[in-house]
Amino acid sequence: PPFVSYQNQQLMVEGVPLAALAHEHGTPLFVYSRAAMLSALAAYQRGLAGREHLICYAMKANSSLAILQALVRAGCGLDIVSGGELERALAVGIDPSRVIFSGVGKTRAEMRQALQVGIGCFNVESRAELDVLDEVARDMGLRAPVSVRVNPNVDAQTHPYISTGLKGNKFGIAHEDVLSTYTHAAACKGLRVVGIDCHIGSQITQTGPYVDAMDRVLDLVERIEAAGVHIEHIDFGGGLGIDYQGDTPPEADVLWQALLQRMDARGFGDRKICIEPGRSLVGNAGVCLTEVLYLKPGEQKNFLIVDAAMNDLPRPAMYQAFHRIVPVVPRNNATASTWDVVGPVCESGDWIGRDRELAVHPGDVLAVLSAGAYCMSMASNYNTRGRAAEVLVDGTQAHLIRARESLADQTRLERLL
Ligand code: LLP
Repeated sequence: PPFVSYQNQQLMVEGVPLAALAHEHGTPLFVYSRAAMLSALAAYQRGLAGREHLICYAMKANSSLAILQALVRAGCGLDIVSGGELERALAVGIDPSRVIFSGVGKTRAEMRQALQVGIGCFNVESRAELDVLDEVARDMGLRAPVSVRVNPNVDAQTHPYISTGLKGNKFGIAHEDVLSTYTHAAACKGLRVVGIDCHIGSQITQTGPYVDAMDRVLDLVERIEAAGVHIEHIDFGGGLGIDYQGDTPPEADVLWQALLQRMDARGFGDRKICIEPGRSLVGNAGVCLTEVLYLKPGEQKNFLIVDAAMNDLPRPAMYQAFHRIVPVVPRNNATASTWDVVGPVCESGDWIGRDRELAVHPGDVLAVLSAGAYCMSMASNYNTRGRAAEVLVDGTQAHLIRARESLADQTRLERLL
């Protein structure tokens, strides 16, 4: 990925050699490039330039405070899915009107918290949620700004676990119920309809599903507005993929040229656009450094046991996801063997890469690439493993943005009998 490259036989993030960071902070260690995030954001900003728009970073992808701070300073709004994420958003000083609240299961307490600070929009996912939000807002003497998340029933052609725009999954309101939901919402005294929302899945690498979804959403906007309910903004969700394994997703600006053309052609060129990108902003800005502990050659498989595990990098175990794994300092002229790269956790599912050609010795440091999104934010303490430390690189400077979690941190809330 850009901003992660070999220079003089050393893997670098921007101007900082990763071997030095591993040495200084230990492993496993996440290292992110600030420039990579800002350059990914700039592609969206170029694509939407000249239009009224709000890019809300879907912070579930990586919610570390310094990362939120860097993106918010660069002009991002935030897409949140919990009261906890709202607290993080506020902690980095975001203007609450630039926050949108997604998710199928908002609690009353979360709704109150978000209404109190004045967030920009609730993306509502069911009739039942709409009614509860109406009640909560009326109790507070407020009107909640709402979009209805619609399910456009298009196939995003991605992993079933991260495909969300098809009938038969839990997200959004079915096409045929959208109009009645909007007329109902418009009549609720505690609600103010501001937009429409959709999100068809994640790690999408084709333009087609987006264009189809745009057409379906615009069909709905036409029908909703014909019924007398004005739609100020169209929230088109996130989902744009990144290159993990030679994947070739469209660039954000190219994708948006196509989508804006569609909107213009259909007479919606004046609408405010909101988007909720997560992975495409941070995924390829991060790597996870891990040290080789043991080589365990075998009859059927060779195992390379490293100090990062499924609790740090859950995507292979959960989705059979592929992440490139490369040495931080390559051993030239050494013969490579084929290894399954596995962690120390007591589960056969604890693997990070399968059948990888690597020439390594114990003590070598490897970099697991494309680890900026859905790794640290999904990390756990399974096997009482402390969560990794994180470093944000900015040019030749490296900032520790999260210290390694200690055992005391892990047991802080526990009490003996
Ligand atoms: N908006 C909504 C409503 C979402 O549910 C999501 C992601 C996003 C935006 C951001 O999508 P992105 O641009 O990051 O694709 N843990 C999985 C991915 C789960 C995605 C969940 N929703 C993975 O590691 O692949």
